Amino acid sequence: MTDQKIDGGKRTWIIASSCAGAIGAGFVAVPFIKSFEPSERARAAGAPVEVDISALKPGEKMTVEWRGKPVWIVRRTPEQLAVLPKLDPLLADPLSKRNADELTPPYARNEDRSIKPEFLVVVGICTHLGCSPGDKFVPGPQPSLPDNWPGGFLCPCHGSTFDMAGRVFKDKPAPDNLEVPPHVYLSDSRILIGEEKRA
Ligand code: FES
Repeated sequence: MTDQKIDGGKRTWIIASSCAGAIGAGFVAVPFIKSFEPSERARAAGAPVEVDISALKPGEKMTVEWRGKPVWIVRRTPEQLAVLPKLDPLLADPLSKRNADELTPPYARNEDRSIKPEFLVVVGICTHLGCSPGDKFVPGPQPSLPDNWPGGFLCPCHGSTFDMAGRVFKDKPAPDNLEVPPHVYLSDSRILIGEEKRA
């Protein structure tokens, strides 16, 4: 059993960080861990987390905790996937070459940054100063985003933006793409986060 939730549109994971004070009042902290059972303590110490993704619909995101960090699993739509190859000129590191050993496992060093294109698995922590970016999946003009916004994530702290593969846009404070954690598919509906092979 694992703690997991499908994110509602207005619910945003806020992690404790040096820039938490910069987050606007419109964001609501969502307590994630209500109690620590022994298995949860083990998980906080680094044990892998098994996640059931069978309820995740196209366009939805769920968040699970691994090593005290929020890990996002996004089921991308065909439209969201189709736009990714067109974004390369706008991105700081489109092929995820920077700090690849820490941020992008070999099996995610591709355009989608994923094992299965449909599912994005990334650590939801900005690579600038550690805030948690918010979902901005709807493309098009909107506050704090360019008119040609293709859909992705916006970090509220200092305005870094990431595409639907967690790749950071050029000329933003965040230096790197979002981290892809080690993970492996146990079946079509279950992912193990924190391990690349089942022990
Ligand atoms: S923490 Fe500064 S832009 Fe995300």
